[in-house]
Amino acid sequence: MLPLILTDVSLWRDGNTLIEGVSVTFSPGTKTIVLGHNGAGKSLLLRICHGLMGPDSGSVAWAEKSPEGHRRQAMVFQKPIMLRRSVRSNVTYGLKVNGVPKLRRQEIADMNLKRVGLADIASRPAAVLSGGEQQRLALARAWALAPDVLFLDEPTANLDPAATQSVEEIVEEIHGGGTKIIMTTHDLSQARRLADEVVFMHQGRMAEHTPADQFFDSPASAEARAYLNGELRW
Ligand SMILES: Nc1ncnc2c1ncn2[C@@H]1O[C@H](COP(=O)(O)OP(=O)(O)OP(=O)(O)O)[C@@H](O)[C@H]1O
Ligand SMILES: [Mg+2]
Repeated sequence: MLPLILTDVSLWRDGNTLIEGVSVTFSPGTKTIVLGHNGAGKSLLLRICHGLMGPDSGSVAWAEKSPEGHRRQAMVFQKPIMLRRSVRSNVTYGLKVNGVPKLRRQEIADMNLKRVGLADIASRPAAVLSGGEQQRLALARAWALAPDVLFLDEPTANLDPAATQSVEEIVEEIHGGGTKIIMTTHDLSQARRLADEVVFMHQGRMAEHTPADQFFDSPASAEARAYLNGELRW
């Protein structure tokens, strides 16, 4: 399915250019972290990649199309969307929507709830879960689809350090299973822990796309240097 190739992608709304001329290739195997200030266009970029929004110009192309293409990429949002159902049926419903036969859904759901440590509360209504538990459920729901690519938009923004660590471990495990990770974060230390490469967004443009070591040691763009310096002062 990969690489995912964006060519000169732009997005306009109400006379404003929100994404401007982004060309980037997402290759398999690496964890890509998307960094940038609030409003830089990180979430929009992810939504465009995932196909939730079409670009107004430019193209978004996957290497390979398949009839089940929709099942091979998944997205986890900052505020997870829980269905008014049990924890388990949040996962089985996702499988149903994605065409997984009924006979297999329960087993796949239980395996993935176990992986994220929610097996014991699989019967609880999803709506009553804590923020960290909801995020783990969102990860289980995405993981259950065995996607080639997983988009994560600030999945730990509202979580405490312990819940954040647990989400990071799950992300590493999903990546270890061969899923490409493309994730936004505000947390520089998290970016250092997780990133193999960094896409740095600034005012709707991609200012740079570099291996993580290089990004943190000697960023190529003035914008990223300013960002790193500014962030370090906090
Ligand atoms: N549907 C829309 N219509 C108009 N403007 C929008 C729309 N969606 C996003 N924007 C604007 O586009 C800019 C980029 O938004 P985006 O959500 O991608 O930023 P971000 O980098 O994810 O920021 P944050 O770090 O705060 O999550 C923002 O200024 C936002 O107000
Ligand atoms: Mg965002």
